[in-house]
Amino acid sequence: MIFDEFKQLAQSRRSIRDFSEEDVLPEDIRDIIDCARYAPSDTNSQTWDFIAVMNRDKIKEIEAFTWERLKEIAASAEQRGLAREAKMMVKSFGPYATAFGSAPAMVICLATPYTSKFRERIFDPLEFGSPEIWAEEGIKSSSLSIQNLMLAAHAKGLGTCPMTGPVLLAEQDLREYLNIAGDRQINMAVALGHPAAQPKMIARKEIDEILTIVK
Ligand SMILES: Cc1cc2nc3c(=O)[nH]c(=O)nc-3n(C[C@H](O)[C@H](O)[C@H](O)COP(=O)(O)O)c2cc1C
Repeated sequence: MIFDEFKQLAQSRRSIRDFSEEDVLPEDIRDIIDCARYAPSDTNSQTWDFIAVMNRDKIKEIEAFTWERLKEIAASAEQRGLAREAKMMVKSFGPYATAFGSAPAMVICLATPYTSKFRERIFDPLEFGSPEIWAEEGIKSSSLSIQNLMLAAHAKGLGTCPMTGPVLLAEQDLREYLNIAGDRQINMAVALGHPAAQPKMIARKEIDEILTIVK
């Protein structure tokens, strides 16, 4: 692929929150996971796992329990006199955190425990690093695989929305619902489907604002 084509792909990917009725094919999921798994990972640890929920009723159930948790948080905030925040939680964050509701598929992206020969033979004996650092290391590689996943989906004409909203609100419910082992971190949920419409590009910070070149 030439640079201009890649740039066009990267620039035209948008988070999609409205999906058409068309289903996603299992072959499409396999194709995009095939791309996800070629992401780089620390010492090629490949700290990722994916659960593709391809059942609209199940996705609706996930949406329902995410709303339930959100409303509990809002009710508790209201009781503590935080009515304004409670209202914003429901009106603004609620739709944002449940924007996967119309998706025909949802990929739950997990980070598996980071293990490596470095860690086993050097870091752990030296007590270098901490469980939090190794958990973060797993998340870093998993996140790179998610970007591959989203660009691959986009290249196939599919839309995605990376989402931590349902994880922040209903991680434990998601774990139980999908039987996710305790040693796996739920990194993100990615809504996946055929876009109902293609949103326009949105603004980004200017290159000069975010780039420092050291010579
Ligand atoms: C870590 C992360 C968490 C996100 N969580 C949500 C979410 O819970 N709900 C949602 O609708 N979008 C979510 N997004 C999508 C962002 O809102 C979106 O990427 C951003 O506004 C830029 O828009 P674009 O993806 O269309 O370029 C998330 C994105 C990232 C990277």
